[in-house]
Amino acid sequence: MEDFIKVAEVGDINEGGAKQIDLNGTKIALFNVDNGYYAIGDTCSHEKASLSHGEIDGNVVSCPRHGARFNIKTGAVMSLPAMFPVKTHKVKVEGNDIKVSLNNE
Ligand code: FES
Repeated sequence: MEDFIKVAEVGDINEGGAKQIDLNGTKIALFNVDNGYYAIGDTCSHEKASLSHGEIDGNVVSCPRHGARFNIKTGAVMSLPAMFPVKTHKVKVEGNDIKVSLNNE
């Protein structure tokens, strides 16, 4: 069963923006892109910088430390120096609430 937890409200994150959230001790980056919300692990798989503080270009976020790029929707690595993807989490919007699943996809 999916366990969704409210982490933000609609309007908290501008289109093209991100927010770092803490989901029971796990840091997650929540993005608002393409008129939707997407959640991936906030910790870069290279040397642990926070992806929610990275530069966003369309569906891609660049790590603020060394510039590795990740697909915001899939967590896939798109450029070095990171070599491994980050996990994704399901997101749903209920009324004004944005909820993220505890389970990795
Ligand atoms: S810490 Fe993210 S690219 Fe190095």
